[in-house]
Amino acid sequence: MMAYSEINYPDDKAEFYALLQEQVLLYTSGAPDNISALANAAAVIGTAMANINWAGFYLVKDEQLVLGPFQGRPAIMAIEYGQGICGTAWMKKEIQIVNDVHCFPGHIACDCSSVSELVVPVIGIDGRVIAVIDIDSPLSARFDRTDADGMQAIAGMLASFFD
Ligand code: SME
Repeated sequence: MMAYSEINYPDDKAEFYALLQEQVLLYTSGAPDNISALANAAAVIGTAMANINWAGFYLVKDEQLVLGPFQGRPAIMAIEYGQGICGTAWMKKEIQIVNDVHCFPGHIACDCSSVSELVVPVIGIDGRVIAVIDIDSPLSARFDRTDADGMQAIAGMLASFFD
């Protein structure tokens, strides 16, 4: 693996995600184990995205979502099925784009500066949710469909690291 070099990410979201996907691939390929790959993926996402305060993974384990590698403040370590935005994404098997978390019933506040949130389920080869990618922003309505599609492509790239 090469040393990390500072990248100037484009403002255009489609171009941004094309480059982000390349970078995630670069810093996860050849990983000696799953945690090292997810830790680097969280670092790439967390440093690349503007206006976010948390980015990381929750992994389905023992019928809960368990905190995985992330960038940001300490967070809740286990989330029940259907609980909060992450547990809802897991239960519904659907991406959650939340413009204002304070309006989401049952939202779990980890960092009180978070206002909007994007949660993307990671689907395994058997079709079950195996993890979620969670990104928080201090801005309202930070995430749109282009962000969701871009992160969904990354979820697909990383699926093999959640086994
Ligand atoms: N807000 C999330 C919990 C995780 S933190 O944002 C890192 C939720 O409601 O599921």
